[in-house]
Amino acid sequence: MSMQAKRRADYLPPAFTISDVKMDVRLHPTATRITSELQITRVSDHSQHLELDGDNLSLVSIKLDGEIFEDIEQREDTLIVRNVPDTFTLTIVNDIDPQNNKALEGLYLSQNTYCTQCEAEGFRRITYYLDRPDVLATFEVTLHGDKAQYPTLLANGNPVARGDNDDGTHWVTWQDPFPKPSYLFALVAGDFDLLEDSYTTTSGKSVKLELYVDKGKKSRGIFALESLKRAMKWDEDTFGLEYDLDIYMIVAVDFFNMGAMENKGLNIFNSKFVLADQRSATDEDFFNVESVIAHEYFHNWTGNRVTCRDWFQLSLKEGLTVFRDQQFSADMTSELSNRIKHVRVMREHQFAEDASAMSHPIRPEEVIEMNNFYTVTVYDKGAEVIRMFHTLLGEDGFRKGMDEYFRRHDGQAVTCDDFVAAMQTATDIDLSHFAQWYSQSGTPVISLTTMFDERKQVMDITVAQHTPPTADQSHKVPLFIPVAFDCIDENGKHYTDVDGKIKDGVLLLDAPSTTLHFTGVESPLIPVVLGNFSAPAKVNNNLSVEQMLLVFRYAKDAFNRWDAMQSVYNWCIAEFEKGQGEQIDDSVWNALSDVINNEADNHELLGECLVIPTFETLCQTRQRVDPNSLNSARSAFCDAFSIKLASVLKRVFDSISTDSYQYDQRSVNARRCKNVLLNHLARTEHGDSLVRQQYAAADNMTDTLGALKAAQGNLPDAFEALMQNFESEWNVDPLVLDKWFGLHATTERDDILSQLSLLKQHPQFTINNPNRVRAVMGSFAFFNTAGFHRADGAGYKYVTDYLLELDAVNPQVAARVVTPLTQWQNYAPAHQSLMKAQLNRLLGHKGLSRDMFEKVSKSLA
Ligand code: PHE
Ligand code: ZN
Repeated sequence: MSMQAKRRADYLPPAFTISDVKMDVRLHPTATRITSELQITRVSDHSQHLELDGDNLSLVSIKLDGEIFEDIEQREDTLIVRNVPDTFTLTIVNDIDPQNNKALEGLYLSQNTYCTQCEAEGFRRITYYLDRPDVLATFEVTLHGDKAQYPTLLANGNPVARGDNDDGTHWVTWQDPFPKPSYLFALVAGDFDLLEDSYTTTSGKSVKLELYVDKGKKSRGIFALESLKRAMKWDEDTFGLEYDLDIYMIVAVDFFNMGAMENKGLNIFNSKFVLADQRSATDEDFFNVESVIAHEYFHNWTGNRVTCRDWFQLSLKEGLTVFRDQQFSADMTSELSNRIKHVRVMREHQFAEDASAMSHPIRPEEVIEMNNFYTVTVYDKGAEVIRMFHTLLGEDGFRKGMDEYFRRHDGQAVTCDDFVAAMQTATDIDLSHFAQWYSQSGTPVISLTTMFDERKQVMDITVAQHTPPTADQSHKVPLFIPVAFDCIDENGKHYTDVDGKIKDGVLLLDAPSTTLHFTGVESPLIPVVLGNFSAPAKVNNNLSVEQMLLVFRYAKDAFNRWDAMQSVYNWCIAEFEKGQGEQIDDSVWNALSDVINNEADNHELLGECLVIPTFETLCQTRQRVDPNSLNSARSAFCDAFSIKLASVLKRVFDSISTDSYQYDQRSVNARRCKNVLLNHLARTEHGDSLVRQQYAAADNMTDTLGALKAAQGNLPDAFEALMQNFESEWNVDPLVLDKWFGLHATTERDDILSQLSLLKQHPQFTINNPNRVRAVMGSFAFFNTAGFHRADGAGYKYVTDYLLELDAVNPQVAARVVTPLTQWQNYAPAHQSLMKAQLNRLLGHKGLSRDMFEKVSKSLA
């Protein structure tokens, strides 16, 4: 196995292309036979041999233009076919073993369903191929399988023929007319319940919609199917993009490494992002189902019709598609809570990644294992970069740029530079400086310094940017940053600068610093920056807590208002860290009480504003954190908050009536606000009875889970009792039970490690299912601050022991769960050395996967 890094700079176009593929697949648990007939052509004038990718395949035979061909050489990951003509047909027969494929990459069999996962480089685990995204071919696939066990046989495109054999098997042939890279290949065989529907596009084309779910789960698929239709409509209305095949299929499977996969015409989904009904799914689950359904659908244009030239360009499709799904969700639900949700992801996870050894630009320069680069940086920071295009070009300009992108590149495999060039046709702003966002990693910090001259009534505000060096890049350049900028005085009057550097509320910062001048200023102005999170940056604003509260009161931008509250909490928690929490002035508590009172009817804003920043977010504004003292300070603040504000919290809680369950924005906001309030109230004298009441009365999973979360950590007796009740109710439903696993794994208690061991012995737990592993070990490592960061290092060791086991089963999932360990830079020296000791254990392990090797070795370099 090669541990060698590939570099973006070393890209070479393929020496051969494949125009058409005809595949015949005979399904068998341990010996599935693949026959693949490839039409191959030499590209340009060279005399190289043909070198095909292959991984874990047993070669049976190979023919060239119908004749047995023996001038071949099998190496570890490749098959060399020597002295081939310029154009020829290659017929390869090989066997694979789906049942023992626990990495869930390539073709695998789990719970009596065959399915594939080929992105990024899984197709080479099915057959020998030029497994790279810039080789586009049409596919015709014939599947053969036992008719009783696998009545459903699916592949990409349209079914064109089917039949029965005498031996109890049947077969179906599928044709996909659109040339595609191998990573979009898919097949599925199983026995499902089917939800059917249809959609008529704006131009009048009728598309069959099919959603395949586990037997008996039909009613849980309805919401996903409705979401799909909304996404199809939205993409037509917003971007003029219609679906292109006659049939669109979605299959939900229980064993899946990621969220979902956009295979052409045949999406395969983690069932977690398909199945939802009021009893089993929370509002958040509903939201996620709709957004993932839309995301995969949107890939049909941004990813499939226009694909990536090479994997370094991943953000070309992912950043753009995440941006598109975010816009869709904002239109379907609410702009503010969507924006806050995505900013939380950036601050909790992306900033941390950029501050770690895994730091990389949204277009990485160097990759050992591609699976490691499906990151919050490529996806979420990538989407923030697209959003900045949107800000710079405006709604219409952005649409114009997108139209040009499709006009130029439909049917091609292209680069991020091609995307920028298409956008450039729609704006006078020179995008070459802006494009550095693709090559520079790290989180820029925007710092503000102010100078007020009371006599002249003028004020200067200097806005400076600085990007600290990252593990992968020591030298940083100033970026082109759209900084949404507002300025208020203590009475809430808004000001703009005299030179007009702020245009339409946005300052385009393209230099290391710039100074804004304000006149007619009677009292010092308060800068309100990065409205709607206009750039993926941190801000150093040095506001006093009084000023933050004024921003909350007067800022026009709702995001800024929410953010001001986050800063207030951050400031308070810092007081607790210094041991001065008790001295926080009554004026601050009174102001918080006013906020709650004044916004009592605005459930959306209040619900967001009452969430105390997470430990992970707090880490991003601190250095060398001692996890346990920060965690205790946060918790002490939460206690003080709920005790001091108990009466107003309770009053607002009582004022929110939730009728019988509806998934609509108004009810979602009300439930969210109520559950956030309950979380605070759980720390008060009313806690126990409120929590038990809500649990007992709940007609939906949102309120059930809200009660459990409120009890967790605050009300151990109630928690224990309700969790037992929950387990007995949902024991047969692994997807719901994952919530229970996750709650146990994130509970802070002294005996958490033995609790984890019990969870691993639970009959529903299996190391082979990524959702289960994430629910237990992922939740613990990412979110159980006290347990994972135990001062004796036992939490780190526990996770590492498990990772050694998991890496041999599913390296992709193991390499995700190791992330918190690799972020040791954030913590105090004592923790750093304990974490590094465990990373060293991993690195020293014989047979470590390439996925783990890359992350662990980087984090120790
Ligand atoms: N391309 C998928 C998506 O974002 C993610 C994915 C990557 C799934 C790799 C599986 C494997 O929609
Ligand atoms: Zn995607």
